[in-house]
Amino acid sequence: MDKQTLEDIARRLLADGKGLLAIDESTPTCGKRFEDYGIDNTEDNRRDYRALLLSAPGLGESVSGAILYDETLRMKTADGTPFPTMMNDNGVIPGIKVDTGAKDLAGHPSEKVTEGLDGLRDRLAEYHAMGARFAKWRAVITIGDGIPSAACYAANAHALARYAALCQEAGIVPIVEPEVLLDGDHDIDRCHDVTEKTLTRLFAELREQQVHLPGLILKASMVLPGKQAARQADVREVAQATLRCLYASVPASVPGVAFLSGGQSNESATAHLDAMNRIDGGAGPWTLTFSYARALQQPALDAWRGDAANVESAQNALLHRARCNSAAARGQYDPAQERQVA
Ligand code: G3H
Repeated sequence: MDKQTLEDIARRLLADGKGLLAIDESTPTCGKRFEDYGIDNTEDNRRDYRALLLSAPGLGESVSGAILYDETLRMKTADGTPFPTMMNDNGVIPGIKVDTGAKDLAGHPSEKVTEGLDGLRDRLAEYHAMGARFAKWRAVITIGDGIPSAACYAANAHALARYAALCQEAGIVPIVEPEVLLDGDHDIDRCHDVTEKTLTRLFAELREQQVHLPGLILKASMVLPGKQAARQADVREVAQATLRCLYASVPASVPGVAFLSGGQSNESATAHLDAMNRIDGGAGPWTLTFSYARALQQPALDAWRGDAANVESAQNALLHRARCNSAAARGQYDPAQERQVA
């Protein structure tokens, strides 16, 4: 493991005011997103959509890297340029989702464990040769009656740590993503408690597996009340609770936290990130940035609708959200920016 190389990649991914674009939906999930617009889930449509996002002019000014699905990393643009080359030319580092999905956790109804460790060493070597310099693995933690169980915390943290160790061996920066789902009617304190336990267990496992913490990025969910909770929290409350949780469970040697949006509205995801970066002038030990899928892509998909005539407006919609989130990553987001879409 070349620690310096890993730290350099992590530093580039967390460069000032930059974040990550997650476009690693599996083919069926991409199909669900397309379905809402009557777009056929064909390989050509998936290629055209992903190509328009990744080639948006100037994307690299606010997005440092993009997480792809296996199929996308292997694609070529209409003129035959491999996607990783096109991305690097646009200032965007190629990344790859390597887990094979969250499956039912045996003996634990309503809970999941993420799979994908078998054969991972070989897949990582191939991805590295194709140009991927970072990877993602998403674990899912559900809050409910009597859950998460101790078994769910343990199984997911262990798998994440073994994934991270394999990535670093291959010269790939692991993004470790334990997502605490927004579903449920729990309050913000319960989310805080579950997120803190999730992260504490995760970092214990990462240390156990000898993972080099300065060479990874944490992809965390924000601390929020459940979607169905009677009382929702305001922006400052979410920012404070999330930061408190990070201070309680994330070592200072981790260089950065890139949040997922998890079903928040586009504007809320931006406002929450901004508020965290304003607390104490963003003086915490980690870079706090975004790694959004829905909260970056939604307006672009709305604009594109599968029609080549809409490519430019779709790219502008993506660039607008990327710039708003870039401002939030610096603690300089002004909601008035929302009116500046080109
Ligand atoms: O793994 C989850 C995605 O990369 C982030 O997606 O921002 O839509 O929650 P999201």
